[in-house]
Order: sequence, then C-alpha cells, then structure tokens
Amino acid sequence: MVQKITIAIDGFSSTGKSTIAKELAKKLGYIYVDTGAMYRAVTLYAMNHHFVSSSTLNLDELEKHLPSIRLSFVFNANLGFAEMYLNGVNVENEIRSLEVSQLVSKVSAISSVRKKLVHEQQDMGKHKGIVMDGRDIGTVVFPDAELKLFMTASAEKRAQRRYKELIEKGDSVEYEAILHNVVERDHLDSTREDSPLSKADDAIEIDNSDMGLQEQFDLIYALVTSKLS
Ligand code: DC
Repeated sequence: MVQKITIAIDGFSSTGKSTIAKELAKKLGYIYVDTGAMYRAVTLYAMNHHFVSSSTLNLDELEKHLPSIRLSFVFNANLGFAEMYLNGVNVENEIRSLEVSQLVSKVSAISSVRKKLVHEQQDMGKHKGIVMDGRDIGTVVFPDAELKLFMTASAEKRAQRRYKELIEKGDSVEYEAILHNVVERDHLDSTREDSPLSKADDAIEIDNSDMGLQEQFDLIYALVTSKLS
C-alpha cells in the first residue's frame, strides 16, 4: 500500500491556497485543515469578548480565556468541506469578514495563541494523510512534511480574488480597503517575531498570478504523485 504523506501549503493571504488544498485533499482522500480559519476563530472570540480592537489588546484576559476556546472542524456534506466551529457554534461565515481580517494578524502574532494552535494542528496530522494550509506549516508545524509548497501572487491579483469572493457573498466592501488589508497583512505576517511567514528551504514556490485553477492543480498533483511513487 502507498504510504500516506503530509502536504504543507504556505503562502501569502488570498493566494488560493485553501482552494487547491481542498481539491487535493478530496482527490487523495486526505484530511484538509485550514489553519487560517483557526486563527480567525480565536480572533472572533477575542473581538466578541472585547479583548481586541483596532486600538487595543487585552493580552492577559485573552490568555486567561485560551483554555475555554474550543475549535473544531465539522464536515458539511452539502458543501463538501469542513466548516469552522467555535465553542460548538458554526462561525464559518463570520470569520471571513473584513473586520476579522483586519485584526487577525494582531492575534496571530501572540505566542501563547500560536502555541495552542500549533499543538492542535500537530495532533490532527500525527497519522499523516493530511493537507494543511497556513503560514508556518512547512517551517514550524510539520518541518518534516514530505511535500511543501509556497504559493505567491501579486497583491493586486490577490485583492481582486478576495473582493470578488466577498461581493459574491453579498458583503459591501471596497476594493481599495481589501488591497490595503492584503498588503498590510503581508507585512505583519512576514515581520512578526514568532513564526513569521517565510518559505521553508525545501518548499517549492508557485507564483499563480497568471495561472488558472486547473493548471495549478495539475502541476501540484504531479508533484504529489512523484512523492508517492
Ligand atoms: O489564511 P488566512 O488568510 O485565512 O489566515 C488569516 C491570518 O491568520 C493570516 O493573516 C495570518 C494568520 N495565520 C498564521 O499566522 N499562521 C497560520 N498557520 C495561518 C494563518
């Protein structure tokens, strides 16, 4: 029997990591984990409890509450992917809002938050057969992953994709605000002290600015197949 592997997909925000990761997991029969959703759910919890805002951060209170933050992924057969639950409540839509996007870099820079989530992520992947996407998967969570990908695309292309997604969902947002958020998050995520976004030495970089989904999928699937053979 072919051994199952661990696939780590890192990269900047809105590079389409999760779309590719989901498709790949489906095709391989692997578990898919969107770690950005976990950081977003902790951010939503902190927002709802007034531990964080654009001008404040109550680190003590947030750290005290960390043990009461229960995150789980629940598979939705209609959608064909797992949705994020925070303390038993489906927050899949709420965590994608611009408000959460504007605060998530602040919360995800906190070492105690990262420690909790990295531990949970490593536990989910202990039997391999997993596709995980995020910022530090190939560098910190699974440094021994058999396949590591690093996705990039221009900030404008990524902002256009995000804008389209939110507009299609019925959110009223401005393209300029999305672009600003994408650029700001790139900067914050790459310059934070704990586990900054960086390409692992052994990761394969894919710039998908001008690539269609099928083209990307075929390229990545070929890489997976070569690892499995
Ligand atoms: O993938 P995303 O855009 O939904 O991620 C949201 C934020 O979470 C991102 O700006 C940085 C943070 N994040 C992180 O620090 N580490 C990860 N493994 C995944 C996401």
